Amino acid sequence: MSDVLYINGRYTTTDERVIGVEDRGFQFGDAVYEVFKFLGKRPIYLSEHYRRMANGLSEIEIRVPWEEAQFGEVVRELLARTKFDDGIVYTQVTRGESERKHLYPDDLTPTTVMYSRAFTFPDATKKARGIALITADDLRWKHCNVKSVNLLANAIAKKKAQRAGADEVLLLDDGLVREAASSSFFGVRNGGVITHPLDEHILPGVVRDRVVSLALANHIRVDERPLRELELFDLDEAFITSTTQGVMPVSSIDGRATRRGDITEKLQRLFDDDEARALV
Ligand code: PDD
Repeated sequence: MSDVLYINGRYTTTDERVIGVEDRGFQFGDAVYEVFKFLGKRPIYLSEHYRRMANGLSEIEIRVPWEEAQFGEVVRELLARTKFDDGIVYTQVTRGESERKHLYPDDLTPTTVMYSRAFTFPDATKKARGIALITADDLRWKHCNVKSVNLLANAIAKKKAQRAGADEVLLLDDGLVREAASSSFFGVRNGGVITHPLDEHILPGVVRDRVVSLALANHIRVDERPLRELELFDLDEAFITSTTQGVMPVSSIDGRATRRGDITEKLQRLFDDDEARALV
């Protein structure tokens, strides 16, 4: 089944492959993307995703192509045309199309793309079992707060994980734990959680932000600091967070077993409830 595709103000399907070969997103990875989840055709944390996208675009001086209300209208129309109820929406905004030169003209019209895709979110079994992580060097660029489509380092790291029989990669930078290749990372120690502070080394995860707020509201200590690699050995529990995985326990790191403990389970429950409330 082909998915509904929005491109530059027009609705079509993903059967139509329509980006120009000199689009700067294609030539230079000169683009920002966003992924949000919908259930029963209702988008979740849409405003948060919009704000992150607008911030990322502004940071690399690409014109934000939609006001928040317009963005919401495109999403509503896209989901109305979508044949399934639950899934994700992928959005990409590139700087636009022009003759291939590193130096870009100032007046480009951004290319805007959005499409819906069916997605199977983790079930109770997977949420209890968790995922295996390996560690690898963080070879990404230095503005990881921008959700750039330059995912080469992330993609290569993920392949390394797959070859090692793992699901996700924890990215290490000079002995410090940053985040995972496509998710945020939390360690649990003595009843509190530790996660990297918001800066240019990590993506400001929408789920990370909800989990930090939910932890604080439920009297769970939150220490926002980079974990040292060696501290990974001393964690009581660990979990990753993302739009597609929610709060997902880590079952092992580089082959050393960890387990889903009380704090991870509690935050998993609190987050699932929060997400359900965000729907109404
Ligand atoms: N990835 N860190 C990185 C590097 C990510 O790519 C993602 C999300 C996150 C979690 O962000 P959020 O909680 O807003 O989903 C953290 C998306 C899902 C992706 O690339 O498909």
